[in-house]
Amino acid sequence: MKQDVTKDLSEIVDIKKIEIVKKSITESHGLPNECYTDEEYTTIERKKIFEEKWSVIGVANSVPNPGDARPFDLFGIPLIILRDKKNQIKVFHNVCSHRGYKILQKPEKINNVIRCPYHSWAYDFDGNLVATPHIGGMNKNEAEGFDKSCNKLKEVRSYVWLDLIFVNISNNAESFEEYIKPLSDRWSKFWTKEDQKLIRHPKDHGYFQLKVKCNWKFAIENYCESYHLPWVHPGLNSYSKLSDHYHIESDLNRFAGQGTMVYDPKYKSSKKFPCFPNWPKKKKKFWGICGSFPKCNARNTQRSLLCLLAGTNKPCLHIRTYGSLLCWRRSCLFWQI
Ligand code: FES
Ligand SMILES: [Fe+2]
Repeated sequence: MKQDVTKDLSEIVDIKKIEIVKKSITESHGLPNECYTDEEYTTIERKKIFEEKWSVIGVANSVPNPGDARPFDLFGIPLIILRDKKNQIKVFHNVCSHRGYKILQKPEKINNVIRCPYHSWAYDFDGNLVATPHIGGMNKNEAEGFDKSCNKLKEVRSYVWLDLIFVNISNNAESFEEYIKPLSDRWSKFWTKEDQKLIRHPKDHGYFQLKVKCNWKFAIENYCESYHLPWVHPGLNSYSKLSDHYHIESDLNRFAGQGTMVYDPKYKSSKKFPCFPNWPKKKKKFWGICGSFPKCNARNTQRSLLCLLAGTNKPCLHIRTYGSLLCWRRSCLFWQI
């Protein structure tokens, strides 16, 4: 990827084509081609959206146990997702403070330290540099004037919400609570905070990938419209019709999506999935999907939560289902995308 972030957007895309996007529905059309195909546009996008805003990089469930760590590449920014011994998720730049080597090459179980494979510097779970073998010469592990505390692993600002891991690489965005408030307020009206704590990710059948040969925006935009339902999902359209859907868009431009109040799937079995206990009875048929963050859509119903994360570098959708503590095993089988 070219890294010329000094280029102005107007040098890459005809601004008039972008202005059209904001016009009324009768005059507007989608983003110009360059926004989906141009590498220089992607460089600006990476900085303005993925570094300077809150962005989802994965789910906490992908590192289920203390010591689990996995590398993640955010448009060329190498990161480490780690679950520490206190069960907290931490995100670090996957860059050694010595010579910048990529420390974690593949998912690993870390016992006590994250060790760089190049010169064996080692960092604890808080990113503190704790070992610098032979730094002062053979078998001398200290060097005069070298201060380990100045050479920590660089931690990235992160927050876990509904198991989604958000990062703000540039550390310049508003607080996460402030950022998520519009969506959190919307959802908490029918999905209480207590019920949200019940979500669990199943150990089986709860995750799959779809290979998609498209830019990440194209994949996410698909979940912000229901126009394709009659043709692509005639089964779904039989009980959740195109005409029943309404558009969701937040004032602060934080999320957008689709909702319906008449979602009433027909089950082949006589058994029904249990619901979240405090879901309001009057909103039982509510269904909402919100694409609020780069790369991520989250869909909730009275019975489950579904998260879709669009890969950035690799054309892939990561789909995870969550159910309540009471029903996760069956609800995970429910979704057929
Ligand atoms: S680059 Fe990591 S220890 Fe040298
Ligand atoms: Fe669809």
